[in-house]
Amino acid sequence: MESPIEQTPTLSPLTPPAPPSTASSAPSRPLTPGDARRGAALFASVCAHCHNVEAGQPHKFGPTLDGVYGTRAGRIPGSRPSEAMKRTGEEGGRGVVWGTDTLVGCRCRRCVAYLADCRGYVPGSKKPFKGVESERDRVDIVAFLQEKASSAK
Ligand code: HEC
Repeated sequence: MESPIEQTPTLSPLTPPAPPSTASSAPSRPLTPGDARRGAALFASVCAHCHNVEAGQPHKFGPTLDGVYGTRAGRIPGSRPSEAMKRTGEEGGRGVVWGTDTLVGCRCRRCVAYLADCRGYVPGSKKPFKGVESERDRVDIVAFLQEKASSAK
């Protein structure tokens, strides 16, 4: 097993896959509103060495994420997504659009979400990052991304 590339006090590595739960159709539980300010701080410590997030900033190893919320996977202008990422967003394929459901997911561990398990969600992606285990952290990071995207429009 590779270890996650970065550890911060707010993150712990993904725990091994939980035994399959019996909740095959877990109701999608509404998530509490995220705290975008906390999300900004988390972004700075966890995501920022691979991603810029201000409009107009260059892509780093990962693409600049100011407008990513609400867009199809692999469609960030000027970025060079992997084939795997492009396929993930393909219309007629999985057609993944980045939003709270696809990025945060929920605790049931059946509905995998991208930020919970980046490699599991987009197998073959070039992103060497495991994910953010805490749902609270994911909610806040995504609230921050959502705020960025809406202020960009
Ligand atoms: C080790 C570097 C690295 C870290 C850390 C990282 N990413 Fe990424 N991320 C990437 C790369 C590289 C890609 C492009 C993957 C591909 O195209 O296969 C990517 C892609 C993405 C995408 C999809 C972009 C698209 O093209 O649709 C999102 C959303 C994203 N990252 C969010 C995050 C968030 C939020 C964090 C912090 C919790 C994070 N990433 C941490 C490297 C990283």
